[in-house]
Amino acid sequence: FKVPAPVNEPIFGYAPGTKERDLLEAALTEARSETGNIPMYIGGKPVHTETKGKVTPPHDHQHILAQYSIGNKTHVQQAIDAALAAKAKWENLAWEQRASIFLKIADLISGPYRYKLNAATMLGQSKNAYQAEIDAVCELVDFLRFNVNYMSEIYQQQPPVSPKGVWNRVEQRPLEGFVFALTPFNFTAIAANLPTSAALMGNVVVWKPADTQIYAANLLMEIFIEAGLPDGVINLIYADGPEVGEVIFNSPDFAGIHFTGSTAVFQNIWKTIGTNIHKYKTYPRIVGETGGKDFILIHGSADAEVSSTAILRGAFEYQGQKCSAASRVYIAKSIWPKIKELMLRDLATFKMGGTEDFSNFINAVIDERSFNKLSKYIDQAKAESGVEIIAGGNYDKSKGYFIEPTVLVVEDPKYTTMCEELFGPVLTVFVYDDIEFDRILEVIDTTSVYALTGAVIAQDRYAIEQATVALRNAAGNFYINDKCTGAVVGQQPFGGARGSGTNDKAGSMINLLRWVSPRTIKESF
Ligand code: SER
Repeated sequence: FKVPAPVNEPIFGYAPGTKERDLLEAALTEARSETGNIPMYIGGKPVHTETKGKVTPPHDHQHILAQYSIGNKTHVQQAIDAALAAKAKWENLAWEQRASIFLKIADLISGPYRYKLNAATMLGQSKNAYQAEIDAVCELVDFLRFNVNYMSEIYQQQPPVSPKGVWNRVEQRPLEGFVFALTPFNFTAIAANLPTSAALMGNVVVWKPADTQIYAANLLMEIFIEAGLPDGVINLIYADGPEVGEVIFNSPDFAGIHFTGSTAVFQNIWKTIGTNIHKYKTYPRIVGETGGKDFILIHGSADAEVSSTAILRGAFEYQGQKCSAASRVYIAKSIWPKIKELMLRDLATFKMGGTEDFSNFINAVIDERSFNKLSKYIDQAKAESGVEIIAGGNYDKSKGYFIEPTVLVVEDPKYTTMCEELFGPVLTVFVYDDIEFDRILEVIDTTSVYALTGAVIAQDRYAIEQATVALRNAAGNFYINDKCTGAVVGQQPFGGARGSGTNDKAGSMINLLRWVSPRTIKESF
């Protein structure tokens, strides 16, 4: 069989007065008017518990959108058991049948659930309509459709050479055991991709989303079930991280982890897996996308408008909470005055507030912990002599966790905010002498403890070439004359190395191949 050739999902604009806008506004009003009761899903069945957590919009933290049931170690074990019980039937289902379920999920999200999932992401994760649309609808649907296409290529690869009298073949087996998916708050698309990419390849999954993503995750699970995903193939649990880890990483059937989150958590998980390695039936697959400290380098030959737009969009869309967000910028002295003027001009037009007001470009950061961390960095910057705050610098958590888009200009290219991951709307700029381009390339490379995304903006071809070569290992996604965010599935496979992860490129064949274990079969006649 051939599966449909995927095309990227079109982005809806939600302009005032359009039918799409009315439908999205209606979905937002409906979501805000009810207080949902969110269960876990184990073996396809909703599981409610007495212990409850609250879902509140980060931009309106007194409003309770839903309560969710919190599980314990017993529930985690039940989720593993349900996954293993579903395994034999699921992995023996023809791949075309599995593909159909995921294509149907894509159609449900592209069609009837578009507004509801978009609204859930706007409210639960504080994304404006455009950011929710490109994530919870477009990127998510693209992941599903492109992955089905890559899957069909994997299953229909050319077989190995077979000499006369022999038939050699390779069978792509699902992993022996279950896969654990641990998903972050910042992309609903990643929440869907981590469990579904493993499940697509015939694996069974236990899925734990970040607490700050439960609202959208619950809706995703309802859609998976409506699309006909068999009971137990993906089990959704909410419980304390260390408790979940204790059960998952002590299970002999643990066969792999699909992770997006912090470097520290991933490194701890890796260590735990190492300590327990003798307990497992097989070496687990460890696939993770972790931190980032993404850069934009502006050469003296750059176009100032292109540079300013790339910096502002890269740094401040979704409050700088994309793994790919620009958080350090190196700008040539000759062009800095012009870029600064353009940045300040445009920053003055950015409105900040809740996502229900569509004119707000900046919304809240995800939670109080993040707010406290970011405000501390801002306070520290205010107190330092070598740091100038040229925009923003204010914050307020009375209604929601609001941090103004903030731009720091530093004298030391190794200042803390040029090196540490902040994950918020705080950008640091270092201005370098044009003749020191070589040195700045070296500074960028040596301070890139993370290596997820990066960009160079220049008209000079030699400068572009020099940066591309010198920064080869400083970013897994490298952009020339563009911002460093917004990788599109099927166009720019996404992922980085160094402290940013295992670089198994989300939304690519490379990633899907991590969820199978090939068996070579030789038959002699
Ligand atoms: N596609 C997103 C970006 O590049 C990350 O998932 O910003």
